[in-house]
Amino acid sequence: MSYFKKLILIAVATFASANAVYAEYVHITTPTTSMVVDANINDYIKFVYYGNRLDDSELGNLAEAGVSWLPAYPVYGVECQREPAMSVTHPDGNMTLDMKITGIERYTDKDGASIVAINTTDRHYPFDIVVKYRTYPNSEIIETWAEATNRQKGTVLLRQFASASMPVKKGDVWMSQFFGSWANETRLEEAPLPHGMVTIKNKDGARNTHTSHAEIMLSLDGQPREDIGRTIGAALCYTGNYEIKVDTDESGYHHFLAGINPDNSEYNLRKGETFVTPPVAFTYSEEGKGGVSRNFHRWGREHRLAHGDKPRKILLNSWEGVYLDIKEHEMHQMMHDIASMGGELFVMDDGWFGTKYPRTTDSNALGDWTVDTNKLPNGIQGLIDAAKNEGISFGIWIEPEMVNSRSILYEEHPEYIVCAENRNPRFTRGGTQTVLDLGNPKVQDLIVNMVDTLLTNYPEIDYIKWDSNSAITTHGSHYQTADKQSHLFIDYHRGLVSVFERIRAKFPDVTIQDCASGGGRANYGYLPYFDEFWVSDNTDALQRIYMQWGTSHFFPAIAMASHISASPNHQTGRLVPLKYRTDVAMSGRLGMEIQPKDMSDQEKEQSRRAIADYKAVRDVVQFGDLYRLVSPYDHKDIASLMYVTPEKDEAVFFWWKLEAFQNQYVPRVKMAGLDPNRRYRVTELNRIDRRPLSFEGREYTGQFLMSNGLEIPLGHDADNHLHYDYASRVLRLEAL
Ligand code: DGJ
Repeated sequence: MSYFKKLILIAVATFASANAVYAEYVHITTPTTSMVVDANINDYIKFVYYGNRLDDSELGNLAEAGVSWLPAYPVYGVECQREPAMSVTHPDGNMTLDMKITGIERYTDKDGASIVAINTTDRHYPFDIVVKYRTYPNSEIIETWAEATNRQKGTVLLRQFASASMPVKKGDVWMSQFFGSWANETRLEEAPLPHGMVTIKNKDGARNTHTSHAEIMLSLDGQPREDIGRTIGAALCYTGNYEIKVDTDESGYHHFLAGINPDNSEYNLRKGETFVTPPVAFTYSEEGKGGVSRNFHRWGREHRLAHGDKPRKILLNSWEGVYLDIKEHEMHQMMHDIASMGGELFVMDDGWFGTKYPRTTDSNALGDWTVDTNKLPNGIQGLIDAAKNEGISFGIWIEPEMVNSRSILYEEHPEYIVCAENRNPRFTRGGTQTVLDLGNPKVQDLIVNMVDTLLTNYPEIDYIKWDSNSAITTHGSHYQTADKQSHLFIDYHRGLVSVFERIRAKFPDVTIQDCASGGGRANYGYLPYFDEFWVSDNTDALQRIYMQWGTSHFFPAIAMASHISASPNHQTGRLVPLKYRTDVAMSGRLGMEIQPKDMSDQEKEQSRRAIADYKAVRDVVQFGDLYRLVSPYDHKDIASLMYVTPEKDEAVFFWWKLEAFQNQYVPRVKMAGLDPNRRYRVTELNRIDRRPLSFEGREYTGQFLMSNGLEIPLGHDADNHLHYDYASRVLRLEAL
């Protein structure tokens, strides 16, 4: 039976066993994995198993094989020592929860996903927690989250409210996590799990992935490998502050927990209210980190990302080309240049708006979304018409959640900003920028109306870049009552998601990029509403290899905006040849972010050929399976990865040199993911060398390429050989 044809089974089976006299196993399955919890009525939910797919017949002896019986969703109070997923204070001051299972429900949701809901209620208080599991046909991901409902008269204070918890047996377990900062996002760090608590938190309020990420991998068989080893991947799908914990205590288990960061966010749950936590997406693979990534990429494209089945356009973004200095004639020139190089979309970035306070500086105009006709005499329609004349689409930048104090909006509605009473606002970018209070329904309406007006007045806008360049400061809401000031972060993100939902309901087709001072919003919580995200404000090709490598652990290439920019690079000052800059950008969603009039004719011609080459393999990069081959973090002087179509009839191989030394030795890269029995013809893409590579046009079996590989020359036989440091190659493999 083919991989995709296997049935998804959600079974509940009852077993008598020596350890558990009466176990009621809920068996949640994907094509190759099983998660099993014991949901015995009147008992708590016990976590039994997560791993390779089990046959139902194996469940009968599972308990005797040794299982944890640890709670699948630990709560605080009766057990005080264990790290809880949920802790509350009841209206009478009681700080305990003691949950028992009352029933199990199974249903299919509107998207065709299968849901298992395990209903639990407190033994004394009318307080319920439903733990849910969601699976999709043909996907290897299991999503799980919790929903807490208060049915008692008074308000229950939620102190901790994680989405999920999972015990992982101790052994030689390593954690891969992602850290960074602005312009250095998504660096990879891997280490064995230490004793004690590892906590990864975000506290920015608005942007949740500059510093750390809400995704981790756990490699259960020692040092993480790309191709082998039992590996769990977990991604919290949330737009706001999060907390991931791995508590390694004396129990023989690591306890993983993930959810909304509860710091300064205690939540008053009123009678009749339900608190829904964001989902954690889990996968398990015995093909190492590579298997986990491919599972996430497929699920991401098919179930989590806006338009994950549509190829992305090749664009030119104006930011690094002109920054805020938008001029109509220059926008026309940039459109003409990108169209002549084969691009398909032009995106006008920041700088186009503001009348009373023109956006000539980043201190002005956020909140005043009216065109600056001094810069653009023919307005947005003039630009759309110009793009149409060039045969390309038009896109525009906005930053709707923010306001500058130098704006009409702020002058009229200072109460719309996030700020504590009796405190002066703390301004960030430009000395005047701060965050609008998205928890306020009036602010939500304001933003929805702004986007609605823009897209209704200009229905030919094809693409929006939605930016967000400030953290939340001066914790407080003028809108919220005193008892709900601690709801600020949570309500901000509920408001934000509701804004996204309203916009998407009316404009389902527009492409939207999520950007937040670069890569500040690379999280699956955003992606149902967004087609892609900006990986980093740092477009330096060498540093991008490291950042995109980290990002690729959970996110597919189709979502990773990756642009060719100028040399010297504007962030690092590094001189990098166009070939190398292009070869890095081609491994993601290719775009340009440069002033093309500063490029030579030869460079433009080179880019025209590269764009044509990318179009030929765009589907392979954007929809293919990723195989990371040599990690930049392994100090082998090179990095390499490839994409292979699910049918294994085509692949694209990327190779970048990271260091250059005399008489240097680098390993020959063995490919992966190919069909060993098919023959593949090799063609170099984006070629700059005078002579073709020795293997150009030749055919090799998948077997040979995967066990031997091709010897890649360390330099280029081309005029820019002076940039020998930055040799790179892109090879297309076509099955015969
Ligand atoms: C931050 C983004 O990351 C950049 O790409 C650019 O859009 C600027 N904001 C514009 O202000």
